[in-house]
Formats: sequence, structure tokens, C-alpha cells
Amino acid sequence: MASSSRVTVPAFTALKSSDQKICMLTAYDFPTAQLLDESGIDAILVGDSLANVIQGRETTIPVTLDEIIYHAEIVCRAVRRALVVVDMPFLSYHTGVDQAIENAGQILKQTGCQAVKLEGNAGQAAIVSSLVDVGIPVMAHVGLRPQSIHQMGGYRVQRDRDSLLRDAQAAQQAGAFAVVLECLPVAIATEITEHVQIPTIGIGAGNGCDGQVLVTHDMLGLTSCYVPRFVRKYADLSEAARLAIGQYCQDVRSGEFPGDEQSYQ
Ligand code: KIV
Repeated sequence: MASSSRVTVPAFTALKSSDQKICMLTAYDFPTAQLLDESGIDAILVGDSLANVIQGRETTIPVTLDEIIYHAEIVCRAVRRALVVVDMPFLSYHTGVDQAIENAGQILKQTGCQAVKLEGNAGQAAIVSSLVDVGIPVMAHVGLRPQSIHQMGGYRVQRDRDSLLRDAQAAQQAGAFAVVLECLPVAIATEITEHVQIPTIGIGAGNGCDGQVLVTHDMLGLTSCYVPRFVRKYADLSEAARLAIGQYCQDVRSGEFPGDEQSYQ
């Protein structure tokens, strides 16, 4: 049972040593964020997956700082308890420490979120530590990194154990408070989880991680596009919506809606 007090960054990190796994899902709008928060989720990610889910794009690369801030501000307004983490878009932290601080600072100031997430290997450690140094909590993201999809050659399971372990340890050393592990074999993700002191949040990384994250639209069956094998569909809301919309059209066309109950006399 989740407690009703706010999940702060230290409280989130402390969950690693609790006996409960950490639950995290994505949101990009007010009603979804409110639903997740009321359901007792530990953390909400305003992911740059909004490119795929909301904007109908092929990759996350086109997402802009303004777009992520727009969605994150809406999400933060809905959330009372969960930790809100916001993705830093592609090229918003790559050209240097000053740019990264400026953009992460804008995200925190304009949205009210508590932390940012950024994708990177050990090469991004200096960026992570520069943000942490000015008081901006960072969740790292290693393994499959969708912002580097062209360089990585596709959405594939990442199997280079040594460099994955090095990337996660570098993130921890740089001060990240948690690390997302995307698309790793169970054994490697479990080994990383045992070797770092910060929580590991898996997506397609098996059940040895300290927590799990999924794209909410995927797990609710709201995505019409390709859904990866690592997603478990907990509902089929697309089908329910299709049935409801079909019934509405039928009722309007037949004159059955609106009825007396929906009409003013
Ligand atoms: O953008 C996103 O939604 C993510 C998660 C899937 C980890 O980065």
C-alpha cells in the first residue's frame, strides 16, 4: 500500500532498500496524470515518447524543449503525490554543460517537476554531474537509447555487459539518483542492479530491477502502432473506445441519442 505523502527524490532512492518494487508510468496530459497519481504510482515520467504516442512520430528525435515543457507543466498541475520526472529532449543537453544547466533549469522552473531524465553512456557523466552540482536531480537512462536510434541501428536488445555496467556505474558516480535500464537481458540488468546503490528502473530488462516503467498508452492498450514484446497489456481501451464510438454514431444516426434524459424541457 502506497503512503499518502509526497514522493521526493530521496524517498524514491530509498525505495531501493524497501521490500517493494518501484512503479513508474508515463503521462503527457492532465487526466492521465491524475489517474496515475490517484492509483498510487510512485513516479510519473513525462517521456519524450510523447513523440510516438501523442504526435504520431517515428522517433523521439524531433521533440523540442517547448513541447516537453508544455506537457510537463500540465502533468505537474494534476499530480499531488508522485515524483514527476521529465525527459530532456534530444540536443537539449548535448552541446555542453551550460546548455544542459540552462535547459534542465527551464524544465524545473516552468513545470514544477522534481527531476529530469537524460539518455547517455559514460560519456555523458560530466553533464549529469554538472546538473546535480546545481541542485537538479537526474535520472539516467542507459541501454537502448531511443534518441541515438540511428547510431544504434534499431530498437534492439543491448548485450554489451561491460559497457552497460560501466554506463550505469558512471551515472551513479556522477550523482544520478536512479537509472533506467532499457532493453537488456535479465542477467545483465540484475547484475547492474546488484552493483549500483541507486534504484534501477527496467523497461524490457526483466524482473531483477528495483522497479519498472512502461508507456501508459501501451499497457492500457491505447496504442495502435507497434508495441514491443516487453509490454504487458493490462487493458484493451482502444477496443472499448471503438465500441463506444461506434454505438454513439449508431445512436446519433438513428435519432436514439439524445434521449429525454440528456435533453432539457
Ligand atoms: O520516453 C519515455 O517514455 C521513456 C521510457 C519509456 C523509459 O524514456
